[in-house]
Amino acid sequence: MSDTDRIGTLVSWHLMQFVWNFSYLFFVFVVMIRIDLKLTLYLMLLIPVAAVLIAYFQKHLVVLNRKIREINSRITGNFNEGITGARSIRTLVVEDTMQKDFEKDTDLMRKTSINATHYSALFSSTVTILSSIALSLVLWQGGKLNLAGLMQIGTLSVFMSYALNMLEPVQGMIEMISQLIAVQVNIERLNRLLNTESDVKDSAEVIEKYGDVFEPKKENWEKLKGEVEFRNVSFHYPDGDEMVLENFSLHIPQGMNVAIVGETGAGKSTLVNLICRFFEPTEGQVLIDGRDVRERSQLWLHSNIGYVLQTPHLFSGTVRENMRYGKPDATDDDIMKALKLVHADEMVSRMPGGLDAEVGEGGDLLSTGEKQLLSFARALLADPGILVLDEATSSIDTETEKAIQDAINVMIRGRTSFMIAHRLSTVVDADVILVVSDGVIVEQGTHRELMEAGGYYYRLYTRQYEESMTREALL
Ligand SMILES: Nc1ncnc2c1ncn2[C@@H]1O[C@H](COP(=O)(O)OP(=O)(O)O)[C@@H](O)[C@H]1O
Ligand SMILES: [Mg+2]
Repeated sequence: MSDTDRIGTLVSWHLMQFVWNFSYLFFVFVVMIRIDLKLTLYLMLLIPVAAVLIAYFQKHLVVLNRKIREINSRITGNFNEGITGARSIRTLVVEDTMQKDFEKDTDLMRKTSINATHYSALFSSTVTILSSIALSLVLWQGGKLNLAGLMQIGTLSVFMSYALNMLEPVQGMIEMISQLIAVQVNIERLNRLLNTESDVKDSAEVIEKYGDVFEPKKENWEKLKGEVEFRNVSFHYPDGDEMVLENFSLHIPQGMNVAIVGETGAGKSTLVNLICRFFEPTEGQVLIDGRDVRERSQLWLHSNIGYVLQTPHLFSGTVRENMRYGKPDATDDDIMKALKLVHADEMVSRMPGGLDAEVGEGGDLLSTGEKQLLSFARALLADPGILVLDEATSSIDTETEKAIQDAINVMIRGRTSFMIAHRLSTVVDADVILVVSDGVIVEQGTHRELMEAGGYYYRLYTRQYEESMTREALL
């Protein structure tokens, strides 16, 4: 906003001034040339000198202004982070460091701004000096002409008053140029933002058929059935060079409940990111219902996938408003039905105002478990063909976990689902469990099969089981 503001002022106000200054200068020159060509040419000699000086200052001012803008965004960013993360900052006792960082940035900002101001002050005094030189030139040469009897004193004084009046618009124009220099940085920043391209884009043909986000052609949308296939997929993140998946293949028939387990960083989230087309495979294909995800629009896919994360996100507003993010035209009846399915209906009726209860900023007024149940109900409202749960039960205590687990069992019935779970007790009922390690499926099968095999999964499971037993014994 501050960038566009500055560009706006330049266009609407300074540009007009520029036109005015320029035409004034133009006509003054015409008149001066008519009075005395030679004297006018003397004045024009100064122009290349001025050009060199302006170029010099331009270079420095652009660099400094760019730096100022950058520090400014950093300060705003840190400020924002400091406010949203206030609680963590306090519990980590890093107020001091944060304060010091902030002071360092603001200090740099002050120094750089002063430096820039010095340059622009030098710039304008240089202009004034140049103007005085111009005036001296006129006096000197004009005076000589006058002494030689070639120019009347009246003509000389007319010339001088023109030359004097010339200074103001010149200064105005140079002022405008320095504004232009400053704004160049804003334009650059804005351009960079506007030219940022999404890594994942629909092709022209896809948009032609399925429409884009603003004008979806829903009449051409197929119903998503929920068959998912990875075909020789290799993948690395755009900002990482290490391959997360290599030549990965997997076929999941429609309606299968898949659980994905493995250590942190194994590539579980990456798998579902590819299904949701948040990223595209570096090589190979991801197919939904037998067709490459790139053949259909992102909006179509996202409209048909329910995605629930470890940290559920609610928007500030009422419960009803939050539910409607799942389905904008949902009636209260639809909403209550979805809430009932995940056994959250009673919880909502206990809230002050029921569906009208405010959830607070980011759902702050609710517990994590409550937020998670609401986000489940919201995902259900959309009735997605594929459901993805990425560690949706991880941040919930064992008490609430039972309710959440029941809700999940209802949700995944009759649709393809991918459940990434940290706690293995939550995956025992899955149709197939994929054990992922280093981007490779090392084991695959039902809970029973994997336990009988006595491999990696068996070890993971018994370890967690023993831990929970020990915990219970201790309590
Ligand atoms: N946005 C990202 N950019 C670059 N690397 C990433 C990104 N997300 C994850 N990774 C890397 O990919 C690997 C797999 O991560 P992920 O799929 O998130 O693991 P997890 O099994 O814990 O969900 C990790 O080594 C991680 O560092
Ligand atoms: Mg993950």
